[in-house]
Amino acid sequence: MNSSIVNEDNKKAKIDMRGKRALVVYFSESGNTQKLAKTISDQVGGDFRRIEPVKVYPTGQELFDYTKKERDNNGRPKFKNLNINMYDYDVIFVGYPMWWYTLPMIMYTFFDEYDFSGKTIIPFNTHEGSGDGGTYSTIKKFEPKAKVLDGLAIRGGDMQSDQTETVIKWLDKLGLAK
Ligand SMILES: Cc1cc2nc3c(=O)[nH]c(=O)nc-3n(C[C@H](O)[C@H](O)[C@H](O)COP(=O)(O)O)c2cc1C
Repeated sequence: MNSSIVNEDNKKAKIDMRGKRALVVYFSESGNTQKLAKTISDQVGGDFRRIEPVKVYPTGQELFDYTKKERDNNGRPKFKNLNINMYDYDVIFVGYPMWWYTLPMIMYTFFDEYDFSGKTIIPFNTHEGSGDGGTYSTIKKFEPKAKVLDGLAIRGGDMQSDQTETVIKWLDKLGLAK
């Protein structure tokens, strides 16, 4: 495991989470969602985890072909152990890129694997035009016993610049910022 990620754990939140225990967990293939996850984590503190596929994805055009097939076959790619117990968290920020107009199938595996009953899920994603593409509603369907708050969708290209202000405004709207 990447030690720099482990070292991010349990850091102090800049915003007032009112005693709620936060987790930021994300999947990112080319780094955009990772940047957004880090920007959010810098504000909310708590633990930080990357969802990593057991079988590494191909690159370039192959990635598109492979993931389209994976989606068409309703695949459930496995991910490496995240070393977390969902019981430890109240608020879970869940991030991913748009893939083929939906969540990457590895996120389907993620939602299959954990029980979010009674938790608050706050989705975020990066994309190149689809916005959230209805994925926040999909998450609500997956997790009917969780409270799913309004997510944040940012263009991948916009992650070249600092998005801290946008993140703070969003958290403020959710009633999470000070
Ligand atoms: C296989 C694949 C499929 C994609 N499908 C979509 C899509 O349906 N809609 C969209 O807006 N962007 C789509 N994108 C663009 C990504 O969502 C965008 O580049 C994102 O920021 C990548 O995030 P990452 O750097 O965290 O992996 C796709 C990218 C890839 C690689």
